Amino acid sequence: MMKYKNSSPGIVVDRVITAQANSNIALVKYWGKRSIGEDCSDESLNLPANSSLSITFGDELSTITSIVFSEKLNEDEFYLNDKKIDLGEKEIQERFIVLSKLRGIAGTKLRARVVSRNFVPTASGFGSSASGMAALTFAAAKALGLGVETSRLSEIARIGSGSACRSLFGGFVEWKRGNESDGRDSVAKQLYQEGYWPELRLIVTALENPKKSISSRAGMRQTAKTSRLYKERIIGAEENVEALKAALREKDFEKVGEITMQDTMMMHAVMLDTRPPIMYLNDVSRETINTIEELNRKEGRIVAAYTYDAGPNAVILTLDKDFDKVMEALRKINGISKLIVPGIGRGARVLDESQSLIDPNTLLPLPGE
Ligand code: PMV
Repeated sequence: MMKYKNSSPGIVVDRVITAQANSNIALVKYWGKRSIGEDCSDESLNLPANSSLSITFGDELSTITSIVFSEKLNEDEFYLNDKKIDLGEKEIQERFIVLSKLRGIAGTKLRARVVSRNFVPTASGFGSSASGMAALTFAAAKALGLGVETSRLSEIARIGSGSACRSLFGGFVEWKRGNESDGRDSVAKQLYQEGYWPELRLIVTALENPKKSISSRAGMRQTAKTSRLYKERIIGAEENVEALKAALREKDFEKVGEITMQDTMMMHAVMLDTRPPIMYLNDVSRETINTIEELNRKEGRIVAAYTYDAGPNAVILTLDKDFDKVMEALRKINGISKLIVPGIGRGARVLDESQSLIDPNTLLPLPGE
């Protein structure tokens, strides 16, 4: 890990800092970490086998996190959506390494109270780890007074959740694979701001029953160990990032759509090729794919493109001029409970005190509305 310069005025003890970060959807996906060896010194660094490229959602799909470092605290505390979370749980522990890393950089042992609220609509099925880890990293770095550039912070957020490093930025974001074994060059960078392509629209299909079968962390490990197609996928994904960057530069929707659909299906093919197979898509997902393919065939051009992460909900890309047509086709699908239309959003930012989730006087969590 690179050395950080603490050029800040220092830790703001007993002062609450609140930050917001939005979730993101990868058009070229990350599925698989590098294994220990030449280009990875530690698996917990979350170093990806391939680069990826995403769009940051609007505030509709986001997390707000307040944090306070205090001498009055004997241990870290975490409240999520008004519930106290056990920090002893393995998955939470792995994510909270982010706090220890930042504390190490700041040279402090102070404990923190963290209060988060996820604004990810129920049943959207979208994991909140990207927005959650980005908001936590950003808020904690500010509270610790670390004068660290956002791209460097993405190195820390990545450790909590790979996709979180992309959520520190708004708009169109690339996460470079990097080559260094300590991960210092595996960071996210913004390609274009959120207003770059105003005609581009996103639609999220929220399914009635979006059960998740296996965590992405465990799934990726399994794929790297057992899939024979995986090697091919790594090469393909890297090519897709380059092709997608060119298509985005030209704002060529058909090319963007084609690459997006191919990439998601390639990732799900590798998941199916894993032992035991990982199946995130269900009948409604497959019907959605068929609906979009049929619409594109009928129109004789790509009017919409689908992409699926580690779950059955689609994110559909389309352009303003075709939006109504695409919505009409999606409304006919049984099993979709809601169509959410998020904007393309900003990167992580600090919010003002009025949005704090922690009482500034008592330092206790404020109850939700
Ligand atoms: O953020 P993680 O480490 O849980 O991995 C996310 C992986 C996918 O969402 C499936 C793809 C991606 O690049 O976001």
